Parts: sequence; C-alpha cells; structure tokens
Amino acid sequence: MFVIQSRQDSKELICLRPEGTASIVRAFNEHHTETVPWKVFSYGPMFRYERPQKGRFRQFHQVTMEIIGSGAISQDVQFIAMLDRFFHEILNINSYALVLNFLGCAQDREQYLIVLRQFMNKSEIADKICDDCQKRKEHNIMRIFDCKNPQCQEIYKNAPYIADHLCETCAQEWHDLQKQLNLLSVSHAYRPTLVRGLDYYNKTVFEFVSKNLGAQDTFCGGGRYNQLVAQLGGNQDQPAVGAAFGMERLMLLLEPLRNQLPIPMPPALHIIIPMTSAQHTLALLLADELRAQDICTDILFEGSIKSMMKKANKLGAAYALIIGETEQENRTVMLKNMTTGTEEAVAQIDVVNRLKK
Ligand code: HAM
Repeated sequence: MFVIQSRQDSKELICLRPEGTASIVRAFNEHHTETVPWKVFSYGPMFRYERPQKGRFRQFHQVTMEIIGSGAISQDVQFIAMLDRFFHEILNINSYALVLNFLGCAQDREQYLIVLRQFMNKSEIADKICDDCQKRKEHNIMRIFDCKNPQCQEIYKNAPYIADHLCETCAQEWHDLQKQLNLLSVSHAYRPTLVRGLDYYNKTVFEFVSKNLGAQDTFCGGGRYNQLVAQLGGNQDQPAVGAAFGMERLMLLLEPLRNQLPIPMPPALHIIIPMTSAQHTLALLLADELRAQDICTDILFEGSIKSMMKKANKLGAAYALIIGETEQENRTVMLKNMTTGTEEAVAQIDVVNRLKK
C-alpha cells in the first residue's frame, strides 16, 4: 500500500487507492443494488508502494471492468472471451497467453489449506524454502506459489494444487469453464500455481501474460470474487467477476504495433493566412464559418507571408487559405494544397463545399 501522512503535523494517514474493484463494489452497494448484473468499467491512476522497475511503477493507470450480480460460470467465459477478442482482434496483439486456475469455494479452500500445510510442514521442505516463503507459510500460505526463487519453484512442482481439491460443484464449473473457452476458440493454459496477489478471489482466476514484457509479464488479470460485496457491507451477497489491465504494460506491448493500430486520423488542419491586418476581420468570419462545418481551422495573424507559410507547413496543414487585398476585393481566397503545392482561387461562398469535397 502507498500510505502517506496528510500533513507533517498530523497523525492522519491516507492510503492512495491501489486498485478499482473495491471502490466499484462500494458504489454498487450504495447506489446500484437494483441493477444486476451491473456491468461497469472505470479508468484512472492507481498507486502501490512497489520497487520500481520496467513495467512496475508506484503510479500507474488501470482500466477496471466488473460484472456484479451474476454467478454463472458462463459469465466468466463470456468476459474472458471479450478480453481475448479485444486484445487479439481490436488491438492486434498476438504475443500473449491466457493462463487460468480455479481456486474453488470457501469450503474447498479450507480443506485444501490443511493439505497444503501438511506438505509445507514436512521437514525436508520446511528447511529448504527461502525466508520469504517461511513468512508466507505463516501469513498467507497460498502466496508461496508467487515465489521466484528457483529452488522454491522446484519444490512447489510437487505441492498439492487447489484445482485437484475441488468439491463436486466447483469441479464441474472448472470443467465447464475450460470446455466453453475451447468452444469459443479462446486458447488458454492451466497454471496450477496462479493464485493472484489480491485476497478476494475465489473460483476462476486468470491472467493475460506476454514474454515481451520481461519480468512483469502480466498485463491483465482478474477473476471471481463472490464474497467481496458482503465483506464491504452489502446487504445481500452478490457473486461477481472482473479484471483490470494496466495501460503502461499495454502500451509496451502496443509500441511495436503502432503503425498497424486502427487509430483514427486527426482531422486535416486548415490555416487561414491574412496577408495584412486589413484582412483580419475577413479571416475571423471565414474561420467561424469553416469551424461551424467541423472543418478544423486556425488563423495566423502575425509574420510575413513567407514565415506564415513556413509555420503552416510545420503545423502539418493540409491547406493554406491565403487572403490578400486582391482576394478581399474579388471575394475569393487563394487555396494552396500544402502537399502538392497547387494553388487555385476559390470564391469565398464556395470554400466550405470545396474543402468538404
Ligand atoms: P492486478 O493484477 O493487481 O489486479 O492489476 C491489474 C493490472 O494492473 C496488472 O495486470 C498490470 O497490468 C497493472 N499493474 C498492477 N500493478 C502495477 C504496477 N505497479 N505498475 C504498472 N502496472 C501495474 C487488480 O488490480 C484487480 N483489481 C483486477 C480485478 C478487477 N479483479 C477483479 N476485478
């Protein structure tokens, strides 16, 4: 958590928000309990007191998406498939994998933790694990699976996994989840050690990971959190599923694809160049007319004609609309195509139509 003291002389401590799910659940509990399933997204800066490195920051930006009030496992499938299609088909990212695990219900977890503790307490294991895992073993034993120490990882290859200790209902849901993803052609891999960093998850957990990101390889993660609504004061428990992706990590993945992205082109810029101050009023009126027609327009009021043309070029203008004394008298403008360099005199009343062609 990124905790700060509100003022030097105050004992008040403020925790900067580390993620969006809890706030969305509170918004649901306070204002939206009638609308289920409630499907929402939010976007904004998040803060975590991390050791900064590539793709890991103390301030970063997340897009969070949640579906509150639906417990059907097919909802998870629909949600995961939507994310997969978004990354693959809309953003054209191919270099990623979807990894999944199933954490079962509260009862499954209780039973499983007994088995996991038995495994971890075996003397040949307890003596070999790293100091961090010794602490995790006492405080949050399932987080041992996040350990990056190669010796620990080797040991945990033989650990019991929760997906092998599910009740009948959860086992069926886990089976259905994978089957339905297959039916929708969403490639996925079972990762038995995936437990996720936040404690509210149960049943489905998943991550989208990419080798192209280096050590911080997850760019989107989420899962089911069926107990959080009640834990945060909801009158009625509501099952929920959601995920968040990090904008900075997504940008790292998109960087090599920037030329293939379906980014809308910025509108063409038109620069009006009045040759002297005598044409300023006319330039204002003309710009007003063009803007009213959604034609992106600016006026250059200062400088010689040469310097104004240079500036228009630098600004990337598609056309320069030059108005001098002659044009003012003849009620025309000199329309210069900045790409081809061609010029034509156009009647002022025809300029909009000409530019919209
Ligand atoms: P999370 O896995 O902690 O999940 O974060 C989601 C994403 O935020 C990560 O996959 C990563 O892209 C980005 N991210 C997290 N920490 C950092 C960091 N220090 N620097 C840069 N990017 C980061 C959640 O936050 C859950 N609230 C997701 C969720 C929504 N689960 C259910 N609903």
